[in-house]
Amino acid sequence: MAAGIAFLLNGREVRTSLPPGTALVDFLRDGQRLTGTRIGCREGDCGACTVLLGRLEDGRVRYRAVASCLFPLGDVAGCHVVTIEGLNHDGLTPVQQDFVSEGASQCGFCTPGLVVSLTGFLLEDPALETEDAVSAVEGNICRCTGYAAIRRAIERLLREARPAALAAGPEGRLDALVGRGVVPAYFSGIPAQLRELPAEAAPKREPADAVVVAGGTDLFVQRGPELAERKLRLLAHRDGFTGIWPAPDRLFIGAAATVAGLMESPLVAAVFPPLPGFLRLVSSTQVRHRATVGGNIVNASPIGDLSVILLALDAGIGLRCGARTRERKLRDFFLGYKKLDLKPGEVVAWLSLPVTRQGVRLHFEKVARRRRQDIASVNAAIGLEAEDGRITAAHAAAGGVAPVPLYLRRASAFLAGREVSPATVREFIGIAASETAPISDVRGATAYKQALLRRLLFAHFLELFPDRIGAGDLP
Ligand SMILES: Cc1cc2nc3c(=O)[nH]c(=O)nc-3n(C[C@H](O)[C@H](O)[C@H](O)COP(=O)(O)OP(=O)(O)OC[C@H]3O[C@@H](n4cnc5c(N)ncnc54)[C@H](O)[C@@H]3O)c2cc1C
Ligand code: FES
Ligand code: FES
Repeated sequence: MAAGIAFLLNGREVRTSLPPGTALVDFLRDGQRLTGTRIGCREGDCGACTVLLGRLEDGRVRYRAVASCLFPLGDVAGCHVVTIEGLNHDGLTPVQQDFVSEGASQCGFCTPGLVVSLTGFLLEDPALETEDAVSAVEGNICRCTGYAAIRRAIERLLREARPAALAAGPEGRLDALVGRGVVPAYFSGIPAQLRELPAEAAPKREPADAVVVAGGTDLFVQRGPELAERKLRLLAHRDGFTGIWPAPDRLFIGAAATVAGLMESPLVAAVFPPLPGFLRLVSSTQVRHRATVGGNIVNASPIGDLSVILLALDAGIGLRCGARTRERKLRDFFLGYKKLDLKPGEVVAWLSLPVTRQGVRLHFEKVARRRRQDIASVNAAIGLEAEDGRITAAHAAAGGVAPVPLYLRRASAFLAGREVSPATVREFIGIAASETAPISDVRGATAYKQALLRRLLFAHFLELFPDRIGAGDLP
């Protein structure tokens, strides 16, 4: 087998021996002169660099919009990469035409990213609802047109494309969109071409100092230029790290499972019904397609949304070194600011969530400067079990109020066995507040964060026990 990274780029096969840590956007623009993929921020924030990544899954190619500025070239192996040039054909595509018709493009800098994101949405979204289409482009920032025109273009697009796309069913969707010119005809041949590409085998030995890269959404922001110089251990598609699987009393989540993977999982929806909705508050569509559970935990940001939610679900964490895996409680994994119980050579292999017969009631709250696509000032989650208004078990966690994503040990223990009442909630909030020590920073002053925390903890009970707790009970 020839060395290098082999993949399909728009309509042709490409092979490169560039370092796997090269940012995909640089390969596209500098190496291939595909300059329709723009660079706005290089931090996953603007969406100007959005491309589609198509991967064979269960016999079908699934396309996902990703930020190519945060994407390691090594992870395109065996995939179909689609840039705006790969969507163009003789005339305008319906997505492009609707942007023109509604005046949704002015300087045009953001337009390729928006068109690529919406094309990915048309290819993949099961229901093609307007609000979901708007959500699909929440990671695409436009500085000049204003979002009303973009929304009109989306509404027009869905009016025209939705009936035929839905009528075709999931298997026939691609051909239906080829028929309408949303994607060029060569897309129909991509599944067969991908099957012919050599599968990337995991290297037998990886150097001990290799940088572990999962989604890369934190690493490329923090250490982007360095990654092209380093040996990498890419986990995004690695067997044993991906997927979500059930066990008799637990649900296992591979460390490389993405936020989008959790949102789409029928297993997750069955066991923790509100979780997919809460995950919509995490970053943007492009980032959710890549951001992993393990990356969120090991990045150990004190305001990591996934870390806080998983603490409230009483998660266990599987730490693997070679053939050995040891398990800890996630709450014991965070030792101090960016200090983890992770030994040299160990990686996070999976998270495990207890599944009880009664089922856990989960609630998550997050306050950020923007409701979507922003890091929290303070976030908070609770998972509890209750019978007839009496709490039998509880786990509460908060972010932005300590050097680590904080498991509220004393407050959680206090709740077990208590009747839900305004007095219980008051005391719980008081104990929780005494466990925290928020600092003043760009996301808010200490007093503001303390006030936020109290309200978010109260909101858990307001939402979970509306028959027992009312807005007037706020301490
Ligand atoms: C625009 C933008 C918006 C964001 N919004 C949010 C948000 O709303 N909420 C939020 O919580 N986060 C947010 N993030 C942060 C980030 O997306 C998440 O922390 C994400 O879960 C990180 O996962 P990753 O796979 O991309 O990590 P990577 O960047 O791949 O890795 C992060 C760190 O973890 C290590 N690592 C990764 N996987 C493993 C493993 N299995 N074992 C051992 N080490 C590992 C890496 O070596 C690295 O040190 C945002 C990021 C961006 C760029
Ligand atoms: S350049 Fe802004 S998201 Fe990639
Ligand atoms: S049209 Fe100028 S940034 Fe969107």
